[in-house]
Amino acid sequence: MENNSIEKLNQQFASLSLEEAFETLCTLGFKNIAFSTSLGQEDQVLTDVIFKNNHPIKVFTLDTGRLFEQTYDVLDKTQKKYIKSISSFVPDNNELKTLLDSKGPYSFYDSIENRKECCSIRKINPLQKALKGVDLWITGLRASQSNSRSTLSFFSYDDAFGLPKFNPLVNWTLEEVENYLEQNNVPQNSLHKKGFVSIGCEPCTRAVKPGEDIRSGRWWWEESKKECGLHLNHK
Ligand code: ADX
Ligand code: SF4
Repeated sequence: MENNSIEKLNQQFASLSLEEAFETLCTLGFKNIAFSTSLGQEDQVLTDVIFKNNHPIKVFTLDTGRLFEQTYDVLDKTQKKYIKSISSFVPDNNELKTLLDSKGPYSFYDSIENRKECCSIRKINPLQKALKGVDLWITGLRASQSNSRSTLSFFSYDDAFGLPKFNPLVNWTLEEVENYLEQNNVPQNSLHKKGFVSIGCEPCTRAVKPGEDIRSGRWWWEESKKECGLHLNHK
């Protein structure tokens, strides 16, 4: 996808509501659109729009095997509410066995390299499988989630996965997300009410205090940028 076509799309989508954006997206000629959901608040907004309107978009989640029980509850409630499937992508058995046998179940606390190794096996490699044949990847990224996301636009190109990305909630605030979920009665993770904002794997996520950076509860023991490698290239 050319840079100037991404720019044109960004201009075209700037004035559209969320519902209009999805309607328009489905007329653009993409053949295989996929939405990755972590079952977090932003993603639940997008799932609601996609499922309620029967948009021809595949919805998938990366089940790392280390998610919170409360996250699995959201997955279960969501599939039942909309009577739709969310496709689960899981780590490769052999890769996981080699990691666990050689380094044990908590290797990610020992070093950044070990943490990235676990994220690769449990998230990045399954994501690569999930995105095979996909020509547009939808995410729930918001610009105000972190500094590294602040320059994000509706459409971007992800160099790592070689795919255009659509980030429909890029300009939404957390409050707007929360209001949408309440008003539309969308299933939510019960941990959000307990100080968890950004939720990933259970051993790598903790609650944050009011006013604290919303991503500071992720990989809290690390000083470096709080990204796992799913979203490294924002253009
Ligand atoms: S992460 O890179 O730190 O893990 P974050 O939790 O902020 O990402 O979520 C940003 C977007 O990445 C989500 O809106 C979703 O599109 C995607 N994502 C993150 N985790 C998962 C997951 N487990 N399964 C599917 N998509 C995910
Ligand atoms: Fe492993 Fe933690 Fe990354 Fe989950 S977030 S894949 S448990 S290192």
